[in-house]
Order: sequence, then C-alpha cells, then structure tokens
Amino acid sequence: MQLPDLDRDADPWTLAGSALAPEAGPRARIELALHTALTAPSPGNCQPWRWFAGGELIELYRDPARTSGDADPDGQAAALACGAALGALRVALRALGLAEQTALLPGGHPDLLARVAVGGRASPLPEEQWLYQAAPKRRTYRGVMAQGPLSRALSKRLGAMVDGTGAELHVVEDMARKQAIAAAVEAAIAGEPTARAAARAAAGEPGVSFEGPDGAEARGPAIADGAPAFVIVTTAGDDPAEWLRAGQALMRVLLRARVDHAWGSFLHLPLTESAGRKHLASLIGATGRAQALARLGGGADSPPTPRRPLSEVLLAQRPS
Ligand SMILES: Cc1cc2nc3c(=O)[nH]c(=O)nc-3n(C[C@H](O)[C@H](O)[C@H](O)COP(=O)(O)O)c2cc1C
Repeated sequence: MQLPDLDRDADPWTLAGSALAPEAGPRARIELALHTALTAPSPGNCQPWRWFAGGELIELYRDPARTSGDADPDGQAAALACGAALGALRVALRALGLAEQTALLPGGHPDLLARVAVGGRASPLPEEQWLYQAAPKRRTYRGVMAQGPLSRALSKRLGAMVDGTGAELHVVEDMARKQAIAAAVEAAIAGEPTARAAARAAAGEPGVSFEGPDGAEARGPAIADGAPAFVIVTTAGDDPAEWLRAGQALMRVLLRARVDHAWGSFLHLPLTESAGRKHLASLIGATGRAQALARLGGGADSPPTPRRPLSEVLLAQRPS
C-alpha cells in the first residue's frame, strides 16, 4: 500500500492488517498500527478510546464520554476494551517493523491509560505478522458454533499468547466446569438490576450470551452446550492496570484464535462487579480475578461492525 492511501477518514477495517511499501517511514507505520487498534472489540461497540500521537510517542486515553457508569460501574469493561486496543496496536507496531516500549498508567492525566514509545526497527516474527493480518478478520461471533474440542495444539498456542502479559489464560472444555460457568452467567443475567440492563441496552450491546440452535439467545445449560470451549483471562489483582493487562492478553488470544479459524463471543455480565470476577476465578480453580470470559469455537465470517475512523479518535493535542 502506498502512503497516500493512509486516509484518516478511511474505514479502519479496510486498512487494518495491511502491508506498507518498504520505504514507508515511522509516521505511516504508526498510523497504520492505529487504524488496526481501532478494530478491537468493546462493550456495545462503544470504542471508549482516544489517541494522541506526537513524534514517536503514542498515548492512549480513556474517553469518558463513551463509557457507561451504570452498565460498567468500575470501568472494568471499558479499561479491558482499551487494553485490547493497546494489544492490537503493539502487535501491529511490531509486525510493521517498529520496536516499542509501553508503560501502563504513566500518570499526568486521569484518563491516560498507556504511553507507547516507538524506537528503532524490529524484525517481526512470522507469528506476529499472522496476528496482525488476522485483525481485520476478527469478529465477535454470536451464531451457533461448530461443536468439538479445540485441538491441543491450538490450546497451547493460545496459552503462549499471554506469556509476558501479566495475565493468565484458562481454557475450559470439560462439561462439569462449563456447566458451572454457564450457571454463573445465567445467575448474572437473571439477577441483572433493571437499571443496568437498560443502560447496557442503551449502550448498544447486541447480546448477553449468543444464539442457540432454536435461534433464541442461549440461556441456562444451553450456554454450556453452545460453547465448544470457554476461555477465561485472569489476573492476580483487580485494578485498572490489571484490566489493561487482561485486555491486551485477550486481544492476542482472539487474534491467535482467528489465525486458526476460531471465533470468540463474550459473556461479560458475570464480571461486571468485583465479587463476580472473584467468583468466576474460583469456579475454575484460579486464585486471582477473572477479567474476561468468552466462548471459543468454529464460526463463520460476517461483515464487520463499523468503527469510528482515526480522524475521530486521534487528538490534535493532549487533553487538558
Ligand atoms: C469488555 C467487553 C464486554 C463485552 N460484552 C459482551 C457481552 O456481554 N455480550 C456480547 O454479545 N458481546 C459482548 N461484547 C462484544 C461487543 O459487543 C463487540 O465487541 C462489539 O459489538 C464490536 O463487534 P466486533 O467484536 O465483532 O468487532 C463485549 C466486548 C468487550 C470488549
């Protein structure tokens, strides 16, 4: 792709994961990585991020105007989504040959979530290129998934994705544990306060679980039956830095899954509050907190959910 094609008003899905001419400089590479970051998932597709890029420094800011205090009282889901966008950005920078160093919550502004310092050239590994190229193909897949266990090789590859992120990945395939998770999801759906359900609907979240074989949203034991596997990202603690770590890990897992033709869909309701995050971790024998829960399995391609273009989320100057 030639440099003039890098239009900030372009649909991020059309640019994400694409190649640049070898002579492209760092600025074009950084912008292409930013387009790729915009394809990250977020609750109700709220895209709660803003970016600032000056020289070879990239900063990620939360966008308080796009978060819902009723649906997401701790801001955990919004931070997780911002972490996913940060994860996609870092994958893209490396795939585009740029080395980077990232500091989480560097301070100086209450909404500043991460500062990425780009410095020098890096030789990307083939796997980093695959993850990057998978970004425009990743979707949340809420249809009926092909049944059957994940291959052992895929489980192992997914586990490797969280190495060095500070988060852990748990792949759950045995029916007893899947049923326990489904029961926690069902309890969260059934017990959701009315105001929260309204806020979630107003935020545009199209699903609570996913579609069962009868076309209705899966509830109760059908949640376990419809999930070939659950993947759960856990962290030791439960604070914004941990949410950002978990989001990055989640994004890498979803991209690696897509490389291997597996799709994910989220079941986030039981994780809305700290007690639920602790409970879900205990159900799978983990000590920390569950930060993300998704089912994973074979799906099918579908058109992407629209994203805001880079021109809307790239700040001309740092927020005051
Ligand atoms: C933290 C988080 C929570 C989410 N919660 C749910 C959920 O409970 N149910 C659901 O169907 N999708 C959920 N999603 C998926 C979003 O709806 C989806 O990412 C968004 O609509 C954009 O679609 P895409 O992922 O296909 O690009 C969640 C995503 C994130 C990052």
